[in-house]
Amino acid sequence: MNVVVAEHAGFCFGVTKAVETVYDRIKDGNSNIYTFGPIIHNETVVGDLERKGVKVIENPDELNEITDGTIVIRSHGVTRQILGKLTDTGLNIIDATCPFVKRIHKIVGEESAKGKSIIVVGSKSHPEVEGIVSYAGESVYVIESPEKAREFDGDKSLEYTVVSQTTFNRNKFQETIEILNNYGYNINVVNTICNATDERQSEAETIASKADVMIVIGGANSSNSRKLFEICSQKCINTYFIQTLDDLHLDLPKSVGLVGITAGASTPKNIIEEVQNYVRTNF
Ligand code: F3S
Repeated sequence: MNVVVAEHAGFCFGVTKAVETVYDRIKDGNSNIYTFGPIIHNETVVGDLERKGVKVIENPDELNEITDGTIVIRSHGVTRQILGKLTDTGLNIIDATCPFVKRIHKIVGEESAKGKSIIVVGSKSHPEVEGIVSYAGESVYVIESPEKAREFDGDKSLEYTVVSQTTFNRNKFQETIEILNNYGYNINVVNTICNATDERQSEAETIASKADVMIVIGGANSSNSRKLFEICSQKCINTYFIQTLDDLHLDLPKSVGLVGITAGASTPKNIIEEVQNYVRTNF
């Protein structure tokens, strides 16, 4: 049996930078380190940081209680309003928003200022999308899927600039754009799906289409990992979604020739290695 691990599995550039930022502060001996929301959607990493004294701010109201320390903004970024609130605290704010997300904030801000309406293709309740929306003017819409694009009832006399959540499924983004075009919307499209996502998704799709069993490792709340699972499931019916090795209960028949492994952007290397070693040595 062969085991193939995707090259583009695990931490992307933006997540690596955000996580390292927090560990660096710990190493520097800083006390009172906070992250605004969990730094990544991975319980193992968040748990390790908690043990090292890093606290997670879940709600902006908690800011009123904090008088001293450093707050790290995670790679998804925050809304303009929250950034303002954070700055107003006078605490040390480290913005680890991924530059690819910052780029979308900039595009949306500039296009809105030119009078364009904005369409964000992504999950409405995802913090990254909430952040992007906050940089637009009043005319901003979120379309969550091609199905929702069919239901979109916008003003066809307006000019729309369309961007996407960085981790959106590229095929679904294309489909959404085609629907908006076919329905006669005047759209200018900026594909803001980040390369890390694009490479991760295409590679996962290629491996899953050859694999008998596919394992996707990712946090339960990680939307990019869920999307990977969705893509792989379409190509390989035996696709498993796990957070850590403990969740893996494989009972492989002898006929399995190829097991593929991939992981979302918030999965640390050591978890990928553990799963890989387990599959290699036990089957
Ligand atoms: Fe940034 Fe892309 Fe990762 S937007 S946080 S490099 S998935």
